[in-house]
Amino acid sequence: MRKKVTIVGAGNVGATAAHWIAAKELADVVLVDVVEGIPQGKGLDLLEAMPIEKRDSYIIGTNDYAETANSDIVVITAGIPRKPGMSRDDLLQTNYKIMSDVVGKVVANSPDSILIIVSNPLDAMAQAAFRQSKFNRERVIGMAGILDSARFRAFIAEELNVSVENVTAFVLGGHGDTMVPLPRYSTVAGIPITELIPKDRLDAIVQRTRDGGAEIVKHLKTGSAYYAPSSAAVEMVEAILKDKKKIVPCAVYLQGEYGINGYYVGVPCKLGARGLEQIIEIKLTPEEDAALRKSADAVKELCAVIGV
Ligand code: LAC
Repeated sequence: MRKKVTIVGAGNVGATAAHWIAAKELADVVLVDVVEGIPQGKGLDLLEAMPIEKRDSYIIGTNDYAETANSDIVVITAGIPRKPGMSRDDLLQTNYKIMSDVVGKVVANSPDSILIIVSNPLDAMAQAAFRQSKFNRERVIGMAGILDSARFRAFIAEELNVSVENVTAFVLGGHGDTMVPLPRYSTVAGIPITELIPKDRLDAIVQRTRDGGAEIVKHLKTGSAYYAPSSAAVEMVEAILKDKKKIVPCAVYLQGEYGINGYYVGVPCKLGARGLEQIIEIKLTPEEDAALRKSADAVKELCAVIGV
């Protein structure tokens, strides 16, 4: 039987995630949204591309959560995006209301699913979904580290004029202004980038990575990034559906790892069929550790505002 992935939110991130999943023939897709017509139209349009793409993913769009029943994975992208000048944190109250409504319906229809949270502010929304779903932490995972690392990787590849495939990078912490890119653990064909890129250039790339989301918002004006965010979410979908045991940075509920207890923060994770299968603890320098804690404190503050 084919796997079933529900995507909540038929906006740019949700619809593009559906596109990547279908293009990779990973699963059948249900695109669900409160807006009438949009999920149906986009879903049908994508379905009609399948004969050309030679892919047998079946896609439907709907406003009815009954159609999402028994999904293996539910990717939640619902919420409003940023406008220029807004931080991700400005979306907190509005998106929390939307998240609460969505998670209730998702859990009622797919009690055994794995949730991938994409809505912003990411870490607080993941925590809200975790609390409300009452799923174990293995089954509620936030997407952000893969996106932030991909931005870092793209900029490093551009700087050195090398293949993106040669570049691995890690960005830890919350998905916000306090995220923690780790140059020490970032390599080009195994060579640490600290040996390849002068410090001032590297500092600039790190800052551009931190501001990566805002840079796109500034260009688009009416919304935020969606190709890279949806691609990142689908890398997680693929790792889980194929039980790849892939190590990627994700926002997960920490219970003492990295000295952080009771919050969603981005750390290296192993993803497989059970969802989060392992948290990898790497040694941090005192400066990196302090940056990670600062980032966790920012997540803590947001969670306190919405009481999750
Ligand atoms: C970004 C937003 C989607 O980083 O959080 O582009």
